Amino acid sequence: MGPFQYRGNELFCEDVALTKIADEVGTPVYVYSRSDIERAYKAFDAALDGIPHEVCYAVKANSTLGVLGVLVQLGAGADIVSIGELYRWLRAGGDPDGVIFSGVGKTAAEMKTALDAGIGCFNVESGEELLALDKVAQENGKRAKISIRVNPDVDPQTHPYISTGLKQNKFGVSMAEARQLFRDAANSKGLAVAGVDFHIGSQLTKTSPFTDAIARLVDLVQQLAKDGIKLEHVDIGGGLGIDYGKGDGLPPSPAEYGVAVRAALAPLIDLGIKLVTEPGRVIVGQAGALITRVLYRKRNEAKHFTIVDGAMNDLMRPTLYSAYHPMKPVTNPDRPAQATDVVGPICETGDFFARDRELPALDAGELLWIGAAGAYGSAMASNYNTRPRAPEVLVSGSSYTVIRARETYEQLVANEKLV
Ligand code: LLP
Repeated sequence: MGPFQYRGNELFCEDVALTKIADEVGTPVYVYSRSDIERAYKAFDAALDGIPHEVCYAVKANSTLGVLGVLVQLGAGADIVSIGELYRWLRAGGDPDGVIFSGVGKTAAEMKTALDAGIGCFNVESGEELLALDKVAQENGKRAKISIRVNPDVDPQTHPYISTGLKQNKFGVSMAEARQLFRDAANSKGLAVAGVDFHIGSQLTKTSPFTDAIARLVDLVQQLAKDGIKLEHVDIGGGLGIDYGKGDGLPPSPAEYGVAVRAALAPLIDLGIKLVTEPGRVIVGQAGALITRVLYRKRNEAKHFTIVDGAMNDLMRPTLYSAYHPMKPVTNPDRPAQATDVVGPICETGDFFARDRELPALDAGELLWIGAAGAYGSAMASNYNTRPRAPEVLVSGSSYTVIRARETYEQLVANEKLV
């Protein structure tokens, strides 16, 4: 049972009718269920029960303060990829010590800010980055805790834009190079070796890429032990997929993922090494929906179109990754279906949410629910076509809070200047 359920003919989020939110806050609007974020976090955490572990939520998936606040209260750590994300995490009350900093292009200024904040670990992705971090740490009289991100060269079998663990991808270093970098780090004055990590891709729908990558990691950790380098943790990234309702098979549940990961990691757990994870999508994906209102319908020689007030700037995933998102009418779901292209007002053919989708025929003025939009929805939104970004609402039981108001036009031009 997801957080969005019909009661009679009306779709609710927890105990709040979506029509009420749409009427009061306007559309398009992102709606999140607090209890579903909590459920997903606890399910993921529980799946790793019995092994020492830390769940560092990937802030990029949804970085709205109100959402981060829920994760802070659950006791999550954070995986960040920019100082902006660190800023948000700290503003939400997050602990710097639970922060790991990933990404291939950290600047010296970012390294210094993160060191000053006292973050838990830097996930280093290249030899040059290692040297740069060593220098920044020494200049500031600190030792930076590091993990080396390895690229295990396994195929995550997901969309090419979100595959990150193949040798042709820009992420991490090869296993052979990692071994050398660990030696360099161990001999440095500004670095303290803490762990090793990988993140092989996102929206993974099988456990085998994770277990294949872990097997390679286990080999590396054992080689490092021979080199006299002892690690405190291994970090297996994020990547667990969610069900987008396409009907082409379910991804493994967190529990199944936990079983597979635990078995693959067994040789290391016995060595007392802690597991770190960086899940994003699986924590917030199902908790969120984009609610949009139908403006017009039209039919041309080739197609039927449903034109809605949300657009690709609000939810990029369909056009960027050919992603499928489930859709339902917010009221009266039981009516004849018709094939339609659900499109927005933006002046691009790429501005669509679905193509040839069999949907109950919607009238102008009706609301459409676009589900599984909690992850990489609002976080990837833009102001293209000078569209203010959509507001975001967090529902808890029978009440809701606007955790981000709709942008104003004044805010959109605030940093601009006429010459
Ligand atoms: N750790 C690192 C280093 C990452 O790069 C990512 C995601 C994660 C963790 C979290 O992965 P997750 O558990 O959410 O799969 N915008 C794309 C997804 C991009 C993922 C980028 N990295 C989408 O909408 O599908």
